[in-house]
Amino acid sequence: MAKTQDEMKLEVAQAAIEYVVPGTIIGIGTGSTANFFIDELAKIKGKIEGTVASSVASAERLKSHGIQVFDLNHVSEISVYVDGADESNKYLHLVKGGGGALTREKIVAAVADKFVCIADESKLVPYLGKFPLPIEVIPMARSYVAREIVKLGGEPVLREGFTTDNGNVILDVHSMEIMEPTKLEQQLNNIVGVVTNGLFAMRPADVLLLGTQDGVKSMN
Ligand code: A5P
Repeated sequence: MAKTQDEMKLEVAQAAIEYVVPGTIIGIGTGSTANFFIDELAKIKGKIEGTVASSVASAERLKSHGIQVFDLNHVSEISVYVDGADESNKYLHLVKGGGGALTREKIVAAVADKFVCIADESKLVPYLGKFPLPIEVIPMARSYVAREIVKLGGEPVLREGFTTDNGNVILDVHSMEIMEPTKLEQQLNNIVGVVTNGLFAMRPADVLLLGTQDGVKSMN
């Protein structure tokens, strides 16, 4: 019988436990796959010092398991960051932010020694951009940033009724075939009013654990 998407997510979450370094602080992502990882981590919570969460939602889930959550400003080292993605190419450049947590995710990933991405096989794509690229924007800059994105060839759509954990809005950019992820990540960062964009190319994942019908495949 074919595995469901959730079964594949669970398998990669279990595989990611292998990357947990005992006695250290673990960075925790956001989303349904990261939730499976949190639930697996709870089983070995006595072996780690604690966690840093990339969203309020993940922090609450961690705390509900009795796992310590530290403020990033009180932490200087994170051994590994485990998170899902909306898309990955074979270079482990990612699109993230479907859940709107991209800014905190990028910050925690930047601090971590290693970034382990966990995803089911539907997330591996030949090129990025089919999934609308999320961009977190300061609210007063929303229209200006949208016009600048149109100049870059994208079609920005405001995520209605959504505010990020940082009090900002999200523009989801459609119709972009992202051939040069690093270049576009930098171009988007240069638009005044952009807080973060959902391209993780300058700091890609180090390892991609992909849930497939034939088991977990590891790419790096
Ligand atoms: C959250 O903001 C995103 O970056 C998630 O990592 C991404 O949306 C993956 O979520 P799922 O694991 O639910 O697919």
